[in-house]
Amino acid sequence: MSERTIRVGLLGCGTVGTSVVRTLHEHADDIERRAGVRVVVTRVAVRDVAKNRDVPLASETFTTDGIAIVDDPDIDVIVELLGGIEPARSLIAKALASGKPVVTANKELLARHGRELFAAAGASGLDLRFEAAVAGGVPLIRPLQESLAGERVDRILGIVNGTTNYILTQMSERGWGFDEALAEAQRLGYAEADPTADVEGFDAAAKCAILATLAFDTDVTTDDVHREGITQVTAQDIADADRLGYVVKLLAIAELEDGEVSARVHPAMVPVAHPLASVREAFNAVFVEGAKVGQLMFYGRGAGGDPTATSVVGDVVHVARHLAHAHAGMVPQAGLGRRLRPMGETRGQYYLNLHVEDRPGVLAEIAECFGRHSVSIERVWQEGAGDEATLVFITHRAREADFQATLGEVRGFSCVRAVESMLRVEGEG
Ligand SMILES: NC(=O)c1ccc[n+]([C@@H]2O[C@H](COP(=O)([O-])OP(=O)(O)OC[C@H]3O[C@@H](n4cnc5c(N)ncnc54)[C@H](OP(=O)(O)O)[C@@H]3O)[C@@H](O)[C@H]2O)c1
Repeated sequence: MSERTIRVGLLGCGTVGTSVVRTLHEHADDIERRAGVRVVVTRVAVRDVAKNRDVPLASETFTTDGIAIVDDPDIDVIVELLGGIEPARSLIAKALASGKPVVTANKELLARHGRELFAAAGASGLDLRFEAAVAGGVPLIRPLQESLAGERVDRILGIVNGTTNYILTQMSERGWGFDEALAEAQRLGYAEADPTADVEGFDAAAKCAILATLAFDTDVTTDDVHREGITQVTAQDIADADRLGYVVKLLAIAELEDGEVSARVHPAMVPVAHPLASVREAFNAVFVEGAKVGQLMFYGRGAGGDPTATSVVGDVVHVARHLAHAHAGMVPQAGLGRRLRPMGETRGQYYLNLHVEDRPGVLAEIAECFGRHSVSIERVWQEGAGDEATLVFITHRAREADFQATLGEVRGFSCVRAVESMLRVEGEG
């Protein structure tokens, strides 16, 4: 392991910044192994140094002077988490001018002034990473920039604003109007007191501009994006879409057609069978169509301190490797010799359909067997009757070996005519 330490100057220690500090601290050893160097936050700029932030940093780490951090020769990398245009724009420009790579989550800034900042970074051969700027915790920027570098992306459809997706989900599933759903989103902290940036589509438009710029190697700014929010979507729109087999979503759409790029944000009906239709609540998903790769979907939490910090820290590790090893590639690290868990010790949920005798006591007999093997039942119901009777079980998460023992025993019961099917259930809860 290198003896060098990469010192991070953090600009902003709010929702995302505090999570970044904690993540770097809590996972310091893993991060060191992956980056090849120790990564520590040594200085932090905030507006109010007296505020209690509950982060593992000494109070003298904090300052209100962002310029002093950017100018500090002992700082190796700047992480900008202030938000807004100024002073973020000037501080990033100054950092790049003084040879410091930058990690930022600032979509608003990149969607307006990305070109000048990317040019400054490019001219100096410095990293300017921004994984967290679109879809927060969802790894999307690096796949677009690196994994898909050999692909021609034709179209991106994204649900990139969690607040509006939450509101539309409530309207769709509870039959609420826009105002009622917005009030609930505000009560739960999904929407700001002033929700304009979200509900009028400004936030999604900034992300759309960044995605279009990346996908099509063309400068697209927020002002180039056609924008309609969701304030005009009515309960009637939602009901009609539902009746016709559609779900209403606020989509960011970036397309390449006949060599021309378009970028727009507006509500749209999506067929219920489309993967984006099943993206509910405050989740984000970005659906990418490429000429050769076909369809890809990136899905996850688009906001929140911890998910977003994961993307920021990933970028920091990337930059730290570059600094420490002069652009070493990222390769899997030497194994830690961790034990591989045998299948019997894994835990999962199970679906079991048993053809059974239709008489009193059968369910109790089988349920007792589940309980004896510590497999708890989440749901059970009977389908059919008489000779056609089946009992269907879905378990809570249980140990594979315990479930298999249950199954083995149940198979031998005289009341069980056949095991119709047994499937593992993945992706629930
Ligand atoms: N929150 C999310 O879920 C999320 C998701 C994706 C991307 N992002 C992006 O991440 C960035 C940060 O978001 P956030 O939610 O963490 O914001 P936040 O909670 O408002 O935190 C902003 C931080 O910047 C500091 N700050 C603001 N102006 C400053 C100035 N002029 N000088 C010094 N410090 C200043 C604030 O100091 P005080 O604490 O003293 O006020 C605060 O610590 C934004 O670009 C945002 O778009 C956020």
